[in-house]
Amino acid sequence: MRQTAQLLLLSLGSSIATASGSNKRGLVFVPNEQWPQDSQIWVKPGTDLTWYYNYKMTPAPSFADVPQDKFEFVPMMWGKVDGTTFLDSVNQQLDGGRNISHVLGFNEPDGAVSGGSNLDPESAAQLWVTNMEPLAKRGVKLGMPAVTGSDRGVKWTQNFATECAKVANKNCTFDFLPIHFYGSFEGLASHMGSMSASFPNVTQWITEYNWDNQDLSTTKSFFNTTCEYFDRLDSVARYSYFGSFRSKVSNVGPNAVMLNNDGELTDIGSWYMGGSATGVNPQSAAGRSGASVLAAVAAAGIVGAVLASF
Ligand SMILES: *[C@@H]1O[C@H](CO)[C@@H](O)[C@H](O)[C@H]1NC(C)=O
Ligand SMILES: *[C@@H]1O[C@H](CO)[C@@H](O)[C@H](O)[C@H]1NC(C)=O
Ligand SMILES: *[C@@H]1O[C@H](CO)[C@@H](O)[C@H](O)[C@H]1NC(C)=O
Ligand SMILES: *[C@@H]1O[C@H](CO)[C@@H](O)[C@H](O)[C@H]1NC(C)=O
Repeated sequence: MRQTAQLLLLSLGSSIATASGSNKRGLVFVPNEQWPQDSQIWVKPGTDLTWYYNYKMTPAPSFADVPQDKFEFVPMMWGKVDGTTFLDSVNQQLDGGRNISHVLGFNEPDGAVSGGSNLDPESAAQLWVTNMEPLAKRGVKLGMPAVTGSDRGVKWTQNFATECAKVANKNCTFDFLPIHFYGSFEGLASHMGSMSASFPNVTQWITEYNWDNQDLSTTKSFFNTTCEYFDRLDSVARYSYFGSFRSKVSNVGPNAVMLNNDGELTDIGSWYMGGSATGVNPQSAAGRSGASVLAAVAAAGIVGAVLASF
């Protein structure tokens, strides 16, 4: 009886998860060369992920053969480039038949530490006009630089827009506004509000977000609340949860990840892909099935001892 009830709940859970699937979801691809096999998890057929970025101008080698209409690659001009390096790369990809429809601007230009590209608004404006504006003429949609989730970031973006208009002699083209945020849901919603006060009517993409270093149940609630919020808002066109890596290499805390230490999808990882809960603890290492426990025991050479004790 109890088992039947659990099975029923499980199947209900999975249909709910599927029904709440979202085509706004994408991947912040942070591969780890120790576990190249993990990359294939994100391109399994039937997942909710429709797009990805990898902080680079060109596709990740693991996904290079996947067509744009299956899993849209979005190039990024991460930081300072020489001349028109970024423009040339995207033009070349377009000419080669890759249908690039969106590009992303600088990564955390207002930050010098932990992954920031550290650019002043004036230099950023110059690079924008030479590398980005010509792409708008080809019909590519341009994402503003993605600043850190802070008041300093909002200010940087305002200064950048002003500088850009001076360099271009007209308002620059900003089709959408990527947003980064680490912290509570309330903090995130408030930051999105500040951005939309500064840039009204510019569609938002939440391209990096998480509530780092929280306990597992807080992390899961945050995940659910944010996904529901983004899915509901017309002003949010896309989002990508920062956590596509294993727990032990996480820089946002051990629970905020989509993979455990064996490369298995956690509950959050599976929900994000449109599946149901896996019951995999993010910080677990060994496989959970009886077969793999036996294999581990056998590998340790103690299977005889265990059997003898029965
Ligand atoms: C290119 O991508 C855009 C956006 O997804 C789509 O509207 C358009 O039809 C695509 N063009 C081709 C030639 O596939
Ligand atoms: C340019 O952008 C500013 C705000 O950044 C706005 O006030 C102004 O109306 C815009 N100008 C044009 C021509 O769209
Ligand atoms: C924003 O969009 C609304 C509705 O489309 C429009 O009424 C309003 O004038 C726009 N605001 C700005 C600042 O462009
Ligand atoms: C999150 O949502 C899933 C369904 O997608 C649900 O099964 C789970 O209980 C929710 N967890 C929390 C903590 O809200």
